[in-house]
Amino acid sequence: MPLLSRRTLIQGSAVAAAYGIGAGIAGRFGTASAAPKPVGIDAVLTEGMIDGKTATKKLMTYALAGASEPGLAPVLRMRKGEEFAARLSNRLDEPTTVHWHGLRIPNAMDGVPILTQPYVYPGDSFDYRFTPPDAGTFWYHPHCNTLTQIGRGMTGAIVVEDPKDAVFDAEVVLNLRDWRLGGDGQFIDQYKARDAAKSGTFGTVRTANWQTQPDYDVPAGGFLRLRIVASDVTRIYNLRINGAEAMIIAIDGQPLPRTTPLDMSVIAPGQRLDLVVRMPESEGASVDLEDIRPSRPKTIARFRSIGASLKRDLGDVAPLNPNPGVEPDLSSATEVPLVLSATAENSAENSICGSLGFSFWAINKVAWTGDSADPTAPLAEMKLGRTYLLNLQNVTPHAHPIHLHGMNFKVVSSSTGTVAPLISDTYLILPDERVQLALVADNPGDWVFHCHIIEHQKTGMTGYLRVA
Ligand code: C2O
Ligand code: CU
Repeated sequence: MPLLSRRTLIQGSAVAAAYGIGAGIAGRFGTASAAPKPVGIDAVLTEGMIDGKTATKKLMTYALAGASEPGLAPVLRMRKGEEFAARLSNRLDEPTTVHWHGLRIPNAMDGVPILTQPYVYPGDSFDYRFTPPDAGTFWYHPHCNTLTQIGRGMTGAIVVEDPKDAVFDAEVVLNLRDWRLGGDGQFIDQYKARDAAKSGTFGTVRTANWQTQPDYDVPAGGFLRLRIVASDVTRIYNLRINGAEAMIIAIDGQPLPRTTPLDMSVIAPGQRLDLVVRMPESEGASVDLEDIRPSRPKTIARFRSIGASLKRDLGDVAPLNPNPGVEPDLSSATEVPLVLSATAENSAENSICGSLGFSFWAINKVAWTGDSADPTAPLAEMKLGRTYLLNLQNVTPHAHPIHLHGMNFKVVSSSTGTVAPLISDTYLILPDERVQLALVADNPGDWVFHCHIIEHQKTGMTGYLRVA
């Protein structure tokens, strides 16, 4: 199967002559709102080179309908405030769904089996149709048998464009993930029970866009917009840029009100990081995206300056256009206690969407896998339009990237000290941390709330909030 060439010249980099607002994409945002033609997305089995030595069999991915040799799932491009439609066709030999991680869309489009839609069985299809309200970097993945389906490759990036945003000299989307492969390049057990009960089971091969340390050519002295998606089932990254200066412009798809110099950024499963990297002046100089967790730096991807310098100045990078949202009214907020704990109670039932056979984790003492037909009561019943304060407490010795579907929250306070008032859909709660997340319950439906370390999700750290 084809993989991107190791050195990929950034499409269009030569034509984006000026850094400026809307330059280059003006005109692609029409005003007519005819129903969009659905994008055909097939869930497929494939094989391909992951470890650089042997083709890995039984990869699972998304492919555009009719694509002859499926590989890395395509980056789906949408436009803020414009309708998007996709038809998922299931060509796997097991049920699946698509969840659009971070998009605030109607509950019926959210992709959670039983709770929001039926399973999509092999040979069947499902039509998704929604209008993304927010611009930014998001991603899509199944919500059925997730440890296997995500673990074997089913993760793709989503870019929602805003015509008001600046156009940079180059853009690279990086989908970061690991693979559990043996020395023969084939999948080994996706998890070890003793690790699922701790930080999760790590992969053996690290990749970005299904490649080990891919290289990209970027105009010298230019601005590179880097959209990073952490789609691994387990790994938390401490990312830094070596060889250039960079600014953080968005976290978890949401623009920062003020661009912030990147020193090191912690990004957990489910999270996204948008950077502007100012490439070095001299042709051939390289810049590395590195992971320094737990210590020794590992290069994830490399960017090489090419051509004459564009002489950009990082001081010119303006914040992205803000997304719409409702400010939580803390004076009227109702508090919702949510305690993340370990549990010894083994209640894992077999399920159409797979079971690891264990319960290791719970929210408010209830263990649920999130995709089985036995949802317990909602963690909270919320009234449409009201403000809630999720009082989240982690009483485990492990970090959990906890993710809420369908709505964003704002980080209000944390026992770890001062926190940035970030707006997000995923919060990495540290061992013994207490955090307050405020939200306006503005989207009706049953919304899953779970740890994005998929072994934790699948062994009990899942619940849901009901908004009506
Ligand atoms: Cu990426 Cu239930 O989510
Ligand atoms: Cu967790």
